[in-house]
Amino acid sequence: MNQLADGFGRRFPYLRLSLTEACNFRCRYCLPEGYQADGRPKFLTVDEIARLVRAFAILGMHKIRLTGGEPSLRKDLEQIIATVAQVPGIRKVAITTNGTLLPRHLPGWSRAGLNALNVSMDSLQRERFRAITGHDRLPQIMEGIALAQALGIPSIKLNAVLLRGVNDDELPQWMEFLRERPLSIRFIELMRTGDNADYFERYHLRAEVLVEQLLAAGWSERARAADAGPAREFAHPDYCGRVGIIAPYSRDFCRGCNRLRVTARGDLRLCLFGDFGVPLRPLLQSDDDSDALLARITTQLGLKAAGHGLHQGLTGLTPHLASIGG
Ligand code: GTP
Ligand code: 5AD
Ligand code: SF4
Repeated sequence: MNQLADGFGRRFPYLRLSLTEACNFRCRYCLPEGYQADGRPKFLTVDEIARLVRAFAILGMHKIRLTGGEPSLRKDLEQIIATVAQVPGIRKVAITTNGTLLPRHLPGWSRAGLNALNVSMDSLQRERFRAITGHDRLPQIMEGIALAQALGIPSIKLNAVLLRGVNDDELPQWMEFLRERPLSIRFIELMRTGDNADYFERYHLRAEVLVEQLLAAGWSERARAADAGPAREFAHPDYCGRVGIIAPYSRDFCRGCNRLRVTARGDLRLCLFGDFGVPLRPLLQSDDDSDALLARITTQLGLKAAGHGLHQGLTGLTPHLASIGG
């Protein structure tokens, strides 16, 4: 089987496929005013998604993460999961969600073939959670996480964006949460986007401060698998759960890049930041275009840059992460 590789020898087993730009939250660093529909063409259909995922599977990808916006706002999500899970070669079907609809829909998604779940959860404290996301939904999300455990979803990870003076004192509380739960909590360094410059200046905090706290508390860094991606992972013998650190401003972060992205309107993006994307949608209308589709993807991959350029202030092309799938 082919395996996609770029000019820096990196391999790409993992596609992040955005299903919608819409979101029902108003995270302060992402969509503080909420999602505004813009009347442009609709998001990829199930048939287009099937052709797209078949092409990436032929190119050796075996993990598809469904993102957004908020992917659970798609009424046909269960059908999309089932479609993706049935593509030969796809072994992992994952979703990144804000978790509000888990209690209602997770059993169906799980039956359809979902086997990895990442839930955004910026605070374990209800009032803080409400202040960051604009919605008082922490109890439903906790219910959804308990349900995911009860259903035996094989991989469950929680994501908290680290915000200076807002939620940067919660590590002890998270550790207690992990003591008996076999989950990962990943702390994500706030990224500067085209729309959040002021917020970033005020609240950005280097994730390195948490690494120091973890090491002091007896956590140790796990060796990374060859295809693990840029996150670092820490473990402790007294805790069932793991802690991850996603620190895009750290040196060498992009050296572990193992993913490509396709936006909800079908543009291939080589990086979260720094490229405009190339449209794949015209080649998703008929099976007759499958060779042209494979050629467009592999040609484009040759243009992937070494890094994201965040350090050089390259953010203007990505207004917020909801527009590209995080
Ligand atoms: P796993 O597939 O479980 O390893 O999760 P993941 O970290 O790939 O996905 P998730 O959707 O949970 O993303 C967590 C955070 O990492 C989000 O804030 C993403 O925007 C960020 N992130 C994911 N991939 C990249 C990347 O390639 N570059 C940067 N700068 N950030 C990324
Ligand atoms: N910086 C870091 N993480 C972000 N996310 C959204 N916007 C940003 C940003 N500017 C996170 C969400 C979610 C994940 C998909 O991306 O909180 O956990
Ligand atoms: Fe929605 Fe995710 Fe953006 Fe929050 S970070 S507003 S949950 S897309």
